[in-house]
Amino acid sequence: MRRSRPLPTEREETATDGAKPIDRRLFALAEGARRYLWVTVGFGLASAAAVIVGAVVLAGIINDVFLGDAAPRSLTGAFVALGVVYLARGALEWGRSVSAHHASATVKRSLRERVMRAVLAQTARGRSAGSGDLALTASTGIDSLDAYFSHYLPQLVLGALVPLFAVVWIATVDPVSVVIIVLTVPLIPVFMWLIGTYADRATRSRWLTMRRLGDGLIETLRGLLTLEVYRAGGERLDRVRRLSDEYRRQTMATLRVAFLSAFVLELVATISVAVIAVAIGLRVVQGSLDFEPAMAILILAPEVYAPMRKAGSEFHAAMDGMEAARSMFAVLEVADADEREAADRLPVPETPVGAPLVTLSDVSFAYPASGDARSVPVLDGIDLSVDRGEHVALIGPSGAGKSTLIRLILGFGRPTGGTVDVGGVPLERVDAASWRSMIGWVRQEPFLIAGTVLDNVRLGQPDSTTDEVAAALRLVGAEDLIPRLTETIGEQGRGLSHGQRRMVTLARAILPDPVLLLLDEPTAGIDSDTQLRIAAAFDRIARGRTVITVAHQRILVDLADRVVTIDGGRIVTSSGRGRR
Ligand SMILES: Nc1ncnc2c1ncn2[C@@H]1O[C@H](COP(=O)(O)OP(=O)(O)O)[C@@H](O)[C@H]1O
Ligand SMILES: [Mg+2]
Repeated sequence: MRRSRPLPTEREETATDGAKPIDRRLFALAEGARRYLWVTVGFGLASAAAVIVGAVVLAGIINDVFLGDAAPRSLTGAFVALGVVYLARGALEWGRSVSAHHASATVKRSLRERVMRAVLAQTARGRSAGSGDLALTASTGIDSLDAYFSHYLPQLVLGALVPLFAVVWIATVDPVSVVIIVLTVPLIPVFMWLIGTYADRATRSRWLTMRRLGDGLIETLRGLLTLEVYRAGGERLDRVRRLSDEYRRQTMATLRVAFLSAFVLELVATISVAVIAVAIGLRVVQGSLDFEPAMAILILAPEVYAPMRKAGSEFHAAMDGMEAARSMFAVLEVADADEREAADRLPVPETPVGAPLVTLSDVSFAYPASGDARSVPVLDGIDLSVDRGEHVALIGPSGAGKSTLIRLILGFGRPTGGTVDVGGVPLERVDAASWRSMIGWVRQEPFLIAGTVLDNVRLGQPDSTTDEVAAALRLVGAEDLIPRLTETIGEQGRGLSHGQRRMVTLARAILPDPVLLLLDEPTAGIDSDTQLRIAAAFDRIARGRTVITVAHQRILVDLADRVVTIDGGRIVTSSGRGRR
């Protein structure tokens, strides 16, 4: 079983930039949602105005009742106005949260789509990340952007605008309070930044643990039976438990920082309000400030600090989203680079029968080093040319590099040395989609999706009819599966025998009528009856096509025009059968 890479190390290295309150790349993502974000901010501003008006009206009422001896009757108008203002504020806040959620839903939808597309494109180019990592990034990771887009970002904008609004109004009545506000409000972002710098590393290592946990869980679930037989389940569970423990510890650490920072921000805000209150109170006592504006400023003062303080407490939740976003940017950036590269690719040239279709010249290949595994060459100086219409059998011991060779022909991974040409053009200059549309590939381990037999065969050619699918099954000798076309099979082919799974993948490969068939041990690990059926169907399957078969069974090897033996990454013998 292939070990999933422990952690994508290059990503850890690139992710050294600190937590910024606003990541420009994240904001660029909000393109489709920008309208909603502006509406959100608009609602917020209207709500801030309502706060100021409310404070003024309330201060007026208090002034009239306590100092003016006004009859409650004469204040009916003021009370109604106050009620209207508070109602309006409630409605505005409601509108704000609705449009904020629209914004984040829009961002999430487009991001999820882009990430999935980028992951597909990357897989098509032979790169892959741990599946737990991607599952996490595409689900929890994207969901944690909610906090960023619907709470943190609008709050941050408000945090800057509300004090501005309030200051403009307060300046008309009491410049001293303005000075205090201008001096103290910036303290909040400064503390946020200080705490954020510290919390950033904690958030990142927590996110990494979470990804590792996801990888570990998926791996354990995939291998449950094997693990059970070898009694290794306990050890795996221990690992998962250790990771959960670490995750819990790191979460607690983050929470501690979050509480601490909430406390600090609260403290700064409270002290600032107290300073304003004392300064106002003294001047009212001295008689240099009227009671009514003093009261209004006092009511308003906490509101000035509130949005900034709230943004500060949303910051930690938002950081999870930003951290997840970084993983996504890594995926998206690679995909973008690939796309730019892919723009000037050529279609595969027409190759007449008998001319070389695939030519490998002096090809070497090594899988990239991962974790503690060193990079060792798997293929070493391979020269192999396969003509259109030719049928080559590739044999050799397990681990010789046969499957790797097939993958290179498919364009999954580039040779570390030498070139792979298709139709006379280097593979990296050919449009991968156009090349793969000419290929039917049966991989060594059958891949099946949860769905019907029909769905599984149809993967090869999504627009094919039921009749075409049935014909493909008949062609490969799997008539018995035709009545079962609409039968639902489980994930990874549960419900089908190994032989039947192979038949399904063979029919899938044949369905688009490919020019080149790459069969990686199509009869390995299945019963002899099915092996015989595949061998019997082989002439029909191979007729008019170029076929490269990796095989151990004589029965298939004997059908080839040429047998190429590969061992230790080199071609050791190549013998023609002279059938052509
Ligand atoms: N994804 C991979 N990452 C790292 N090494 C791999 C990977 N796949 C195969 N290898 C190594 O490459 C060698 C050749 O593998 P493979 O091409 O599958 O051999 P074969 O198909 O001939 O049995 C093996 O030694 C194996 O350990
Ligand atoms: Mg193999």
